[in-house]
Amino acid sequence: MREADIARLIEIRAGFTSQTRLKVEKSGSGYEVGWRLVEVPLETPYDKGEGYDFDDEERRLVMQRLARADSLEEVVIEQATDRLVGMLDVTEESWNEVAWVWNIMMDVSVRQQGLGRELTQRTIAWARQRNLRAVMLETQSNNVPACKFYVRMGFQLVGINEALYTNHDYQRDEIGLFWSYPLKP
Ligand SMILES: CC(C)(COP(=O)(O)OP(=O)(O)OC[C@H]1O[C@@H](n2cnc3c(N)ncnc32)[C@H](O)[C@@H]1OP(=O)(O)O)[C@@H](O)C(=O)NCCC(=O)NCCS
Repeated sequence: MREADIARLIEIRAGFTSQTRLKVEKSGSGYEVGWRLVEVPLETPYDKGEGYDFDDEERRLVMQRLARADSLEEVVIEQATDRLVGMLDVTEESWNEVAWVWNIMMDVSVRQQGLGRELTQRTIAWARQRNLRAVMLETQSNNVPACKFYVRMGFQLVGINEALYTNHDYQRDEIGLFWSYPLKP
């Protein structure tokens, strides 16, 4: 990624449609609580529309990460059209020795062709080289296609945050799910 690419990130049509959602069933009380995720069909498919809005603040954050020496920032350009069709945005979190994936996205027109896998494998190789202990990321319970992708890539679901977005995430069906790809025993 070059600095000039950041203004073009909005070209990526990163929306998705999901026929299902991951419903969270919570049990117990106090500190003896349990969460269970169940994939349930949706009457109306969830449509994330055009997807990701790289507003001023998000562009500023990507710029900051690009300037870091311990980041992996890449874009995928379609040669024939010169269109920007994918991006990867990862930094090293040295305090806990983790590669954190802030963004990974492919344009709708180039999905299911192995590009997401390639970017994930690059991230894993990069993190190994830096002797990090895991690759981690967060996604949402309404993004079941991405959850399926991460499972396919060998990530393990390691936690949920039911209050990440609002105090009422259950009502919005959007709960933070945390994934890890361990690199060390
Ligand atoms: C998630 C995303 C990056 C995957 O990229 P991709 O290039 O389509 O993925 P790949 O073609 O490399 O697929 C790799 C594997 O995951 C599987 N996979 C990918 N998308 C899947 C889906 N929607 N459902 C089930 N499996 C899926 C593929 O079948 C493949 O497995 P296989 O090689 O064993 O057959 C892409 O769908 C995307 O950009 N989505 C919108 C943005 C987004 O949600 N990003 C993640 C935010 S946390």
